[in-house]
Amino acid sequence: MPSTHHAARSTDGARRPVRLADYRPPAFHAPATTLEFIIEARGVRIRSRIEVTRNGVHRDPFVLFGEELDTQWIAVDGARLEPSAHVSPDGRLTIRDAPDRFAFEAECRIDPQTNTALSGLYLSRGIFCTQCEPEGFRRMTWFPDRPDVLSGFTVTIDADAERCPVLLSNGNRIEYTRSRDGRHRATWRDPWPKPSYLFALVAGDLGCLRDEFVTRSGRRVALEIHAEHHNVDQCDHAMASLKKAMAWDERAYGREYDLDVFMIAAVDDFNMGAMENKGLNVFNSKYILARRETATDADYEHIENVIGHEYFHNWSGNRVTCRDWFQLSLKEGFTVFRDQQFSADSGSRGVKRIDDVNVLRVHQFPEDNGPMAHPVRPDSYFEINNFYTATVYQKGAEVVRMVRNLLGPEPFRRGCDHYFATHDGEAVTTDDFLRAHEHATDRDLGRFRNWYTQAGTPRVETRVEYHEDARRCDVHVRQSCPPTPGQDDKAPFHVPIAGALFGGDGAPIESRLDGERDAAHEHVFELTERSQTFTLHDVGSRPVASLLRGFSAPVRLDTDLSDDDLAVLAVHDDDPFNRWDAGQRLAMGQILRAIEALDAGREPEFDDRYLAVFKALLDNDDDDRAFQARTLDLPAHDVVAEEVETIDPHSIHRARTALANALGRTFLKPMRALRERLAVAEPYAFDGAQVGRRALCNRLLRYMMAADPEGVDAVCRAQFREADNMTDRIAALDVACAHGGRSAEPLLAEFFETWKDYSLVVDKWFAVQVHSPALGALERVETLLGHPAYESGNPNKVRALVGEFVRANPSRFHRADARGYEFLERQVSQFDERNPQIAARLASTFNQWRRYAEPYGRAMQRCLERIHAKPRLSPDVREIVERALA
Ligand code: TRP
Ligand code: ZN
Repeated sequence: MPSTHHAARSTDGARRPVRLADYRPPAFHAPATTLEFIIEARGVRIRSRIEVTRNGVHRDPFVLFGEELDTQWIAVDGARLEPSAHVSPDGRLTIRDAPDRFAFEAECRIDPQTNTALSGLYLSRGIFCTQCEPEGFRRMTWFPDRPDVLSGFTVTIDADAERCPVLLSNGNRIEYTRSRDGRHRATWRDPWPKPSYLFALVAGDLGCLRDEFVTRSGRRVALEIHAEHHNVDQCDHAMASLKKAMAWDERAYGREYDLDVFMIAAVDDFNMGAMENKGLNVFNSKYILARRETATDADYEHIENVIGHEYFHNWSGNRVTCRDWFQLSLKEGFTVFRDQQFSADSGSRGVKRIDDVNVLRVHQFPEDNGPMAHPVRPDSYFEINNFYTATVYQKGAEVVRMVRNLLGPEPFRRGCDHYFATHDGEAVTTDDFLRAHEHATDRDLGRFRNWYTQAGTPRVETRVEYHEDARRCDVHVRQSCPPTPGQDDKAPFHVPIAGALFGGDGAPIESRLDGERDAAHEHVFELTERSQTFTLHDVGSRPVASLLRGFSAPVRLDTDLSDDDLAVLAVHDDDPFNRWDAGQRLAMGQILRAIEALDAGREPEFDDRYLAVFKALLDNDDDDRAFQARTLDLPAHDVVAEEVETIDPHSIHRARTALANALGRTFLKPMRALRERLAVAEPYAFDGAQVGRRALCNRLLRYMMAADPEGVDAVCRAQFREADNMTDRIAALDVACAHGGRSAEPLLAEFFETWKDYSLVVDKWFAVQVHSPALGALERVETLLGHPAYESGNPNKVRALVGEFVRANPSRFHRADARGYEFLERQVSQFDERNPQIAARLASTFNQWRRYAEPYGRAMQRCLERIHAKPRLSPDVREIVERALA
C-alpha cells in the first residue's frame, strides 16, 4: 500500500477562518472505536476501527481529520481504498457516498520521538504520553476529531514489557496478556462515550502512589498517581488534594465519580498545566510534585487548585461536553469557577477573591484591550490553540459567578443540577447552560447573554448624590464598552453591582433600596440600561459608598470617591475585597502622580495621608496575615500600564520602585518589628496561618531592602541558609537578587549546587535571576540559554527563562536599542519550527505594542513585521502576529 505524508496544515495561500456561523452537526455518528497502539523501537503503529452510522440531518460526506500521518492503508467495510483519492491537502479524508452504516479502518504510523509540538502522542523523558485537546488526536490516526462526535473507546496497547512496564488508557483495564517475546498487551475500555479530545494513553516506566476513595453512594474508587520512580515520594499533597476535591464536588454540586479507577500521570514536558482526559488526567509535573524542601506555599496552593480543576471537569467538560470549540468556556469558564469555589472553601475566602481578581486584571483586562480581544464565546478563529485565553477561562468564570450571584446559591444549584441531568452524555453550548438556569429558576437571562457575545471590558462610572433633607442617596450609574476588533458598537450588559454604605467613621449604614420593604446593609443594583439611578432611603448621614463589592462584575469601575473616602474604606470596609481594593486605588493614585512628576523631570513625592493609611494597614492586628500581606502590595506593573494613556515601561517601573522605596524607608522600624514578631519558628506546615505569616514577612523583607541594603542582605543570607522550606529560601534569594547585593551571586551558586538534580527547582533558579531588574539583564538571559540545565524542548524551562524575562522584567526587556525585542523575535522564530503553541504564547508578548511610547512601540512593530515575513509560519503564530499588526 502506498504511504502518504500530510503536512501540518496548509501553511500558505488562501486561509479561511473557522466560523461559529458555519457550524453543521456531524453527518455521521461514531458509536464505537477500537484502537490498537503497537509501540515499536522506531515509532508506533496505530490500527483503528470506527463503527460509523449516518446521523440523518443532512447528506454531507463522512469527514475524518489527520495530520502528519504516515498512512499505511484505509478501508471501508473491509475494502481497501486508495488514500490519495480521498485525502485533500488541508488534512481531510472524505468518504463520499458512504453507506448509512459501515466500519472505517486504517493503519497509520507515527514517530513520537520527533514530535516536538507536544500535541498528539509524544515522548517526555522516555514516557509515551498524549495531549489530544483540542486537535491532537488527528496527529495519531484518522478520526472525526471534533467534540460533538462521541464514541465508546476500546484501546489496546502493545509494548516491550521492560521499556514500558506501565500501560494506561481511559476507563477500566479489561484484559492483560504477557507474551514470551518480552512484550505485553493491556486493553482498556471506557464505558462512557467521549469525544476524541478526551482520549489519553500513557506508557513507560513509572512508579505509582495508590490510595482509595469511597463515594457518597458507596462506590470504591482506586486512586493512582503515576510519576517517575524517584518522584513518587512527592505525590502525597496531590493525592490529598484529589480526595478533597472528590468530596467537595459531592458536597457542593452533588457530583460523584463514575469509574472504578481515577488515574493521574505526571510528565515533565507539557504545553499547559494539566489535562482532564476521562479517568486518566495527564499533568505537568509542576502541578503534582511537592515537598517542603522543593515546593513553595504557592506551589502547594496551585497543585490543590489544578487537581481540583481537572477533577471537576469530569462533570463540567466530560459528562457534559462542548458542541464545538467556540463553546470552550462552557467547560473552562464553569470549571475555573468551580475550582475557585473549591479553593475559597479551603482557605481564606477574601484572599482567594483578591488573588483571582488580580489574575483577571493582570492577564484578561489587557487581552480585552488589545488585538486579541474576543468574546467569552468567540465567533471565529484561525487556530483554536490561540483561544485558551484568560478571556475564555477567567472572564468565563466571572460570567458564571455573576449567574450564581444573580440567581442566588440555591437556585444556581438547581440550575446546575438541571444542566447536568438534561445534558448528560451530550455536546452542548453556552446557551444551553444559560437555558438550564432559566428553566430551573424562571429568570430571564436575555440581556445577560451579551457577556458571552461581546468582547471588551465594560466601564462603569458611578456618582453618588446625597440629599440630606430627604435622607436619600442616589447612586447614578453609567456603563459603556470600548470598541474591540470587529465590534464597534456594544449593547448594554446586565451588570450586577453589589453596594453598601458606610459613615465617615467607617460604621456600616443600613438603608432601604427603592421598591424594597426592608432595610439592609448590602444591596445589589442590577444595571441593565446604559444609565440608571438607584435610590437608597433612610440614609441619616453623608455616606461613603462601597461599590462592586466582592468584584461583583468583571468591569472597570470609576467612582467619585475622594482619597479620604477611599481611606475610610481601606481601613473599615467589611467586604475584604473592597477593603483591599480601596487601598490599591489609593496606591494607584500615588503611582500615577509619581509618573507625572517623573515625566516632568521632578522627583516624585508621596502624600502623607496615603502614608498614614499604609501605616494603619501595617499596624492592623488582624489574624489574617495573608490578607494583610495583600493589602501592603502595590498594584502590579501591568495593572498600572492599563491606567495610563501611553505606556512608558521605565516611568512605570521607576514610579513603582520610588513608592516602594519610600514606604520601606518611612516604615523600616515597624516593618522590622512586625517581621520579628511574626516569623514562623515552628517546623514547616502548609496551613493557612503559617502561609499567611510567611507571605507577610517576605513581603516586608522586600520593602526593607531599599532602606537597609546591607542589613537586609545579611537577613537574606541567614534566612536562605536556615529555612526548612522552599518558600522562605526562594523569597530570600529573590530579595537578594532584586537588589543585586553582595550575597546574590554566592547564594545563586549555592542554590544551583544544592538543587541541580531537581528540574522544577532549577526552573525557580532561572526565573529568580532573570526577573531581577538588578541582575536579569539581557546578557544574563542569553548566557543562561547555553546553560547545561536549560532545555529548550521543555516548556517549563522556556517559561522560566524566556517567559519570565519578557513578562516579569519590564525595565530590562524594554530597551531603547530594541535588543530585548530582537531576542524575543529570535526565540519566536526558533520555537515556531518545534512547538507552535509555545511560540504563539511568546509572540503574544508584543500584543500591546500600539499602546507603548516611542521608541518601544515602533520597535516591537518591526519585530512583528519580520516574524510575519518568515516563510512557513505556523497558523498559531501567524494568527497572533496578523491580529497584532491589523
Ligand atoms: N483542558 C485543559 C484544562 O484543563 C487545557 C489544556 C491542557 C490544553 N493541555 C492543553 C489546551 C494543550 C490546549 C493545548 O484547562
Ligand atoms: Zn480546564
